[in-house]
Amino acid sequence: MEIKDKIDRNKLPQHVAVIMDGNGRWAKKKGNQRIFGHQNGVKAVRETVEAAAELGIKFLTLYAFSTENWKRPQNEVNALMHLLISTLNSEVKTLQENNVRLLAIGDLESLPANVHHQLRNTIDLTSTNSGLSLVLALSYSGRWELVHAVKNIIQDANEGKITPDKLNENTLYQYMQSSFMPYPELLIRTSGEYRISNFLLWQIAYTELYFTPILWPDFRKENFFEAILDFQKRERRFGKTSDQLVNETSTVPNNNS
Ligand code: FPP
Repeated sequence: MEIKDKIDRNKLPQHVAVIMDGNGRWAKKKGNQRIFGHQNGVKAVRETVEAAAELGIKFLTLYAFSTENWKRPQNEVNALMHLLISTLNSEVKTLQENNVRLLAIGDLESLPANVHHQLRNTIDLTSTNSGLSLVLALSYSGRWELVHAVKNIIQDANEGKITPDKLNENTLYQYMQSSFMPYPELLIRTSGEYRISNFLLWQIAYTELYFTPILWPDFRKENFFEAILDFQKRERRFGKTSDQLVNETSTVPNNNS
């Protein structure tokens, strides 16, 4: 029996988030420049997107470039930006064929104009696709997203559109850039590092975390399926007891519970 066939299609996470890590180490191990690792990471992106689409997962968020990544050597930043453009360009046809809708979160205005332009184009071209939503986190950090939300709240408060008594976890989330998607139920991080690295901080309060030692360029569909299987073995209690869960029909509350 193939690993994919062991997955219970009735217990799929709606949203899987991925911290793609280990490109630099992968390249170094092969005696190459870091960018060689990023270039080879594109195959792992393709495999992961395909795997998520095959299963019928609704949202896949990939941490492609963090706010902190701007501090990397300029040649690496440039190479990553170039890789983004070329990948978006080369993959748009496959996205269309597979009914994948591309979206992005992060400080997109801070991206170089040509990257921003290519990204907008691909988002527009795929906007009516109804299958998997592939969300690229670009120039993104969880703290940046929270600050951005707070600024919007203050602005609305100044205009009398919101008062403190109306602010709760649900209304706060509505001010966040990623509020169009449910909270991730599973977060995968590759490369054996056990960190969140400023990714989706608000959203992962009850997310199941899955860490694998595989370096990102080596990550394949089977590895994604393994992570889903592992997720399906977890008991998600959301602060309740095991006994309480037995008496409930659904153990997976939506975002807002
Ligand atoms: C982390 O590895 C990876 C990144 C910061 C970039 C991820 C980019 C890609 C996989 C390529 C393009 C992606 C898309 C969506 C088109 P690292 O450099 O931190 O590796 P290290 O920890 O071994 O140094």
